[in-house]
Amino acid sequence: NTRVLTGITTTGTPHLGNYVGAIRPAVEASRRDDVDAFYFMADYHALIKSDDAARIERSRLEIAATWLAAGLDPARVTFYRQSDIPEIPELTWFLTCVASKGMLNRAHAYKAAVDRNTETGEDADAGITAGLYMYPVLMAADILAFDAHKVPVGRDQIQHIEMARDLGQRFNHIHGREFFVLPEALIEEQVATLPGLDGRKMSKSYDNTIPLFAGGKKQLRETIMRIVTDSRLPGEAKDPDNSALFTIFRAFACETETSAFRQALIDGLGWGEAKQVLYERIESDVAPMRERYEAFMADPAAIEAILQQGAQKARAIATPKIVALRDALGLRSAT
Ligand code: TYM
Repeated sequence: NTRVLTGITTTGTPHLGNYVGAIRPAVEASRRDDVDAFYFMADYHALIKSDDAARIERSRLEIAATWLAAGLDPARVTFYRQSDIPEIPELTWFLTCVASKGMLNRAHAYKAAVDRNTETGEDADAGITAGLYMYPVLMAADILAFDAHKVPVGRDQIQHIEMARDLGQRFNHIHGREFFVLPEALIEEQVATLPGLDGRKMSKSYDNTIPLFAGGKKQLRETIMRIVTDSRLPGEAKDPDNSALFTIFRAFACETETSAFRQALIDGLGWGEAKQVLYERIESDVAPMRERYEAFMADPAAIEAILQQGAQKARAIATPKIVALRDALGLRSAT
């Protein structure tokens, strides 16, 4: 079977980008009989960005409830919390010892932080933790610990998957055996990067997200009304290909609906009406899920029970894997 694995960092409230880039394709993949799916809450990754324990816990609950509401079946999927799997930080260390520092210097998140410092005239590494620097290695351990073949992610994560391949390959080469499967990114080309309210990539860090469930349909509608559009008036032809609104619509609609909407914009549909159409399109997908979301949010104990089981299933795979690696590396496994 093909192993499919993905995670979401527990620092924020799930947004439409997380949904169309990762959750929706991942849930779809998990329904196939030839797929073994591993989906998790990346709470070790959250520590890189946040020291707010309450926020991390809240986000973890929201993300878990979102996965379940989106149709993840815990009987089919190994669904877990990263921090329940101590083999992951252990493998992170093994991989750290084969990771070249030069590769980590090139990681986008680290480079972006250095660039910001340089622009503001700060010391290049000012305020940058070793945690941020090591982010790709922790993510590689997430993936390699389970020998994932495919990793459904948005385009922003491609570099991380490539680094995971690179680290797996290096390790295999150094130790002369195929210890790790080399993973591949699985990108939905239609929605590789969903834009946010301002047209840049929808992202927690840009504060331009449209929440999937939080705040209910009122909030969804209000946020959609804030999508930035150009100043063309009703009756004037719009340019769908330069419109975040249209790009978001396309991520939720079938081809027929998409071409009808494209034509309506070209024919001069007003932006206000277009936003209403977008809202209704998204709401019809989201409404049934939102009910399940609310039910899960009201029952954290049920989620906890699911995650406990998931941790057991995940460790049944990760523990023997780590034992084999420890042997190969010349470490002893105490019994
Ligand atoms: P995170 O939490 O930033 O995002 C979770 C997933 O949502 C996707 N995504 C998007 N897709 C399309 N358009 C967007 N605007 C958009 N914004 C976010 C992301 O690409 C991602 O797939 N490091 C990862 C979490 C992680 C992980 C892993 C993923 C940790 N370990 C192992 C895969 C495998 C992250 O921070 O994603």
